[in-house]
Amino acid sequence: MGIDPNKPSAARIYDAFLGGKHNFAADRVVAGRAVELVPGLPEIVRANRAFLRRSVRYALARGVDQFLDLGSGIPTEGNVHEVAQEIDPAARIAYVDIDPTAVLYAQDLLAANPHAVVIRADLQEPESVLGGHALRDLLDLSRPIAVLMVAVLHFTPDSPRLAAALRGYRAAVAPGSLLAISHATSSGADPAAVDRVADLYNRTGTPLVLRDRDQVAALFDGWDLVEPGVVYSPQWHPDPADAAVHDPAGFLTLAGVGLARD
Ligand SMILES: C[S@@+](CC[C@H](N)C(=O)[O-])C[C@H]1O[C@@H](n2cnc3c(N)ncnc32)[C@H](O)[C@@H]1O
Repeated sequence: MGIDPNKPSAARIYDAFLGGKHNFAADRVVAGRAVELVPGLPEIVRANRAFLRRSVRYALARGVDQFLDLGSGIPTEGNVHEVAQEIDPAARIAYVDIDPTAVLYAQDLLAANPHAVVIRADLQEPESVLGGHALRDLLDLSRPIAVLMVAVLHFTPDSPRLAAALRGYRAAVAPGSLLAISHATSSGADPAAVDRVADLYNRTGTPLVLRDRDQVAALFDGWDLVEPGVVYSPQWHPDPADAAVHDPAGFLTLAGVGLARD
């Protein structure tokens, strides 16, 4: 599937931040350098995973039991199918990632799961994501689904292609569907350090695009943002047991959920 261990990948760098085992030396070098620049990165990434889990539980609490996880990453603790199927064993999940390592490990993990599939695709091509048999056999697009774009859109610069893709997902889903987005932002950090992290990524061939709150809110075009709107990741529907967060902006991640009304 074309895995090059010498070329750092966003999926494997993220796995390294999480202390996972599915990464190579080249990925760990980039991850280590990024943590030197922004020491809170491992905690930031864990908070992002916590937002992902909360958004999945939010969807299930509203009767949405089908998930399209775009940019799903290398499987790690608290994957969408684990969180969802613990609550509803019949919940269905389609994982999509552009990275061959992420797809291989996810396929391995999910081989025996009849309610989950893994698709290798670019999320900017909704026709190929939504049109494939694997997805069509699993998800019923005439019923609401939750589209997850968690920590992925900061790898897709603004372009007519991205805008068309976002419109494509919105047009394809049934009323009652949800869109969950989390996104890296530079507000709340030392801008120079964040710029250097962005440079690091740019040199790996994966552009890192930091968007501010208005730009992240604009990604929800066509969706109604649910309360409390686009906020720092720990502020989005925190669990009652979560410790109080004193510096939410320090998490450098904005997050929100949108509802497709009609
Ligand atoms: C930082 S990880 C996030 C993983 C997971 N969503 C999470 O939040 O824990 C970003 C993932 O998005 C994937 N990705 C980046 N650009 C993509 C694209 N255009 N289409 C699909 N996946 C993409 C990367 O390969 C990587 O696995």
